[in-house]
Amino acid sequence: MEKNKRKPVIAGNWKMNNGPAAAGGLLDALLSAIPAQPVCEVVVCVPFLDIPLAAEKLKGSSIALGAQNCHFAASGAYTGEISAPMLAETGCSHVIIGHSERRQYFGETDETAGQRLKAAVEAGLTAILCVGENLTERDAGQELEKCTAQLTAGLAGVTEQELERVLVAYEPVWAIGTGRTATAEEAARVCGALRQAVAEQYGAPAAQKLRILYGGSMNEKNARELLAQPDIDGGLIGGASLKAGSFGAIVDACQD
Ligand code: PGA
Repeated sequence: MEKNKRKPVIAGNWKMNNGPAAAGGLLDALLSAIPAQPVCEVVVCVPFLDIPLAAEKLKGSSIALGAQNCHFAASGAYTGEISAPMLAETGCSHVIIGHSERRQYFGETDETAGQRLKAAVEAGLTAILCVGENLTERDAGQELEKCTAQLTAGLAGVTEQELERVLVAYEPVWAIGTGRTATAEEAARVCGALRQAVAEQYGAPAAQKLRILYGGSMNEKNARELLAQPDIDGGLIGGASLKAGSFGAIVDACQD
């Protein structure tokens, strides 16, 4: 499948920003900034507490709703956690899995990311699996090895059919929230290797269908060049997703 047959995805990751009071205003601004029929899929991944409000506001719009994490069990004694079926019940269609901040600050491992991803797709959600190397690994030339290992672990137990509900996000840790973006060539090289790894596991047709996003200081200035790369099918946007104008401009950048 050619790149232009894969529908791009622009997903916002609000992280731990905007309680319900502030979320309402940003959601209204996003609804004005995003066209009713964008050329790409648009998703916003909000804090758990904003989900009911966001589900209400985004109903019938072109913006899909996502969460930023889910637990691997459907229910049980897991204080402080939220399950994938709970997210589906409250109106989410997407969930981020294995974000580097979860791995770095909350002890998430390749194994738990794989378990969470499996739970998400089994609940009917689309999982956005994050992979990415840190600066030490990049300086040691280990980025392909690191990212493909995270990818393989994240997809453990995922069937070819379930893979249709997976998006992969390549997010070099050194580019997240730092203002330092991977060059389009650097990003494209890793995304190409990820697609190759999926092809080896699931076959070329499944790999050609898979959407691979880039994340890490993507903004309205650099989006166009990144999105033009053959294996980059969208973006996972942190900081720039908190401003409707910037996020809208990245969505527009998919047009070209
Ligand atoms: P950033 O975050 O765009 O602020 O770098 C991206 C992410 O962490 O998903």
